Amino acid sequence: MIPENFEKSILPLSLDERLAQIALLFQGKKLVFSTSFGQEDQAITYAIASQKLAIEIFTLDTGRQFQESYELIDLTVKKLGFNLTTFFPQTAAVEELVAKKGFNSFYASVENRKECCFIRKIEPLNRALQGADVWITGLRAEQSENRADMPMIEWDAQKNLYKINPLIDWSFETLEKYLTEHKIPQNPLHKKGFVSIGCAPCTRAISEGEHPRAGRWWWENSQKECGLHA
Ligand code: ADX
Ligand code: SF4
Repeated sequence: MIPENFEKSILPLSLDERLAQIALLFQGKKLVFSTSFGQEDQAITYAIASQKLAIEIFTLDTGRQFQESYELIDLTVKKLGFNLTTFFPQTAAVEELVAKKGFNSFYASVENRKECCFIRKIEPLNRALQGADVWITGLRAEQSENRADMPMIEWDAQKNLYKINPLIDWSFETLEKYLTEHKIPQNPLHKKGFVSIGCAPCTRAISEGEHPRAGRWWWENSQKECGLHA
C-alpha cells in the first residue's frame, strides 16, 4: 500500500529531506536507485550519499557509453564515496546480436533499436531490480510528454515494487541550483549541448529551442523511450 498522503507530505520537502523521508517510510525494505549519471541522477546520488541513506545505487553499463560518462562515473564514486553496483548485459546475448546484425543495427529500424535497448538495458534492469521493494529514478515531468503525467509514486505490478520519482515536479532551474550549490560533478558533455545523455551512437547535441530529448535516437520518428520507463 502506498503510504497515506505520500505525495502531499513529500512535495513541500527539500530533495535531501525527500530522500531521507522515503528511506524512513520504507525502513527495512530494499530500496534501490538507478543512475545514468545524468544531472537529475547526480542530484539524487548526492542526497543519498551525503546522508548515508540505506538506498543501494546501481547503474546499467550498456557498453556503448561516452568516454566522458565513464570518467564521470569514476569521479563521482571517488568524490561522493558510495558503493556502486554496475550491471552489464548478458555476454551471450550481445555476442549473438552482433554476430547476426553487426555493431550498429539500431540505425536500421525502430525494431532493431528496441532489440538493442532490450539486450543492453532492459534485461539488465530487470536483474538489477530483482528483490527490490522500492525503485527510485531521476525522472522529471518536464522532460517529455510521456513523463508529464507520471506520479511521484506508483505501484508497478509487473515489477512488483513501488517506483518513486522524487524529482518529478522539479524544474530544470531548481535542479541546476542544487547541483551548483553542492558542487556536484557533472558530465562535461552538458556544456557542449548534450542535455539528455544515453549511449554514444544514439545521442547527439541539441540546438537552442530544440526539445530536451531531441538528441536521443534523433533519426527516429518515435516516442524516444528505450523502454526502461514503459
Ligand atoms: S532513458 O529511458 O531515456 O534512457 P533517461 O536517460 O531519461 O532514460 O533517464 C531517466 C531515468 O532512468 C534516470 O534517472 C535513471 O533512473 C534511469 N536510467 C536511465 N539510463 C540508465 C542507466 N544506464 N543506468 C541506470 N539507470 C538509468
Ligand atoms: Fe543500443 Fe542505442 Fe539503445 Fe544504447 S541507446 S542500448 S546503443 S539502441
